[in-house]
Amino acid sequence: MKKQIITDKITYIEPDSMANFTSCSGIIIQSKAKVFIDMNMGAKETPIILKEEKPDAAIVTHYHLDHSIWTRYVTQYSEAAVYIPKAEEPYFTSLDFVIENTAEPFGEGERWKDFVENYLGYKPLRQYECYDKLTTFKEFVPELVLIETPGHSPSHTSFYFPDDKILFSGDMGLDRFGPWYGWADCSIKQIVDSILRLDGMDVKLILTSHGGVLKKDFQMEWANCIETLLKREKKIVKKLEQGLSKETIIEQGIFFKDKTIVKEPMKSFLYMWDTAMYNHHESLINEGGLINFFPEILPMID
Ligand SMILES: [Fe+2]
Repeated sequence: MKKQIITDKITYIEPDSMANFTSCSGIIIQSKAKVFIDMNMGAKETPIILKEEKPDAAIVTHYHLDHSIWTRYVTQYSEAAVYIPKAEEPYFTSLDFVIENTAEPFGEGERWKDFVENYLGYKPLRQYECYDKLTTFKEFVPELVLIETPGHSPSHTSFYFPDDKILFSGDMGLDRFGPWYGWADCSIKQIVDSILRLDGMDVKLILTSHGGVLKKDFQMEWANCIETLLKREKKIVKKLEQGLSKETIIEQGIFFKDKTIVKEPMKSFLYMWDTAMYNHHESLINEGGLINFFPEILPMID
């Protein structure tokens, strides 16, 4: 784990490895009480840091397992209350629901279930509270502001500290990979909406889940995210015009380029996620494309 002190209240924690989607970066907030957000440091490190830091609350930005699997350890190794997004509750409480709403429609239900259950260690969450846009966390971190940023997941939430102008952006795509929407419950339109909302905010620092700490050029960073979406769309349109099939376009890569060199089961998952991302682009293209819905993004990328 790598700890980075951001302010006297906020510490940014990065896991040793983010391989195989098992972990993400998170934050520890020492305010009225101690709060963890997305502290998914892996199966070894998470119990250690829970015992060391003794948080009072543990919050998750969204249900994706690289952000949420650690909530299974929280009540075992600390006294903290676990807070999950209300709109994503069944993803935390039912493995069947997870599989049915993620991999099953892509014919990968069994392989994904095995990975989620036996490799990632999914267990239905039993002790938890739900939060939504009206939740204030005032007994833990009164200064914390929740910002709904759906698209990457149905109710992905970002967290803002107005006093310090610090944003914890979660999985908004501010990393070298760009925005991800590899499940059917993702939405490119919502991602753009969320990016535009965050882009308008007064920030001095952005803490990301997979891309470290951003200290400057925030507008350019958000514009890059949107440009990445547009580039992917344009590439698909071009390939379709050239007569390439859906399978070939997915094979060549939407998000993941060199899928053939990856070992199973990850290889199948990468195909599945690229298929979902292709599907999202395809329906948007059929509706006239991204610019049709967001003409305001054109000047951002010029
Ligand atoms: Fe995610």
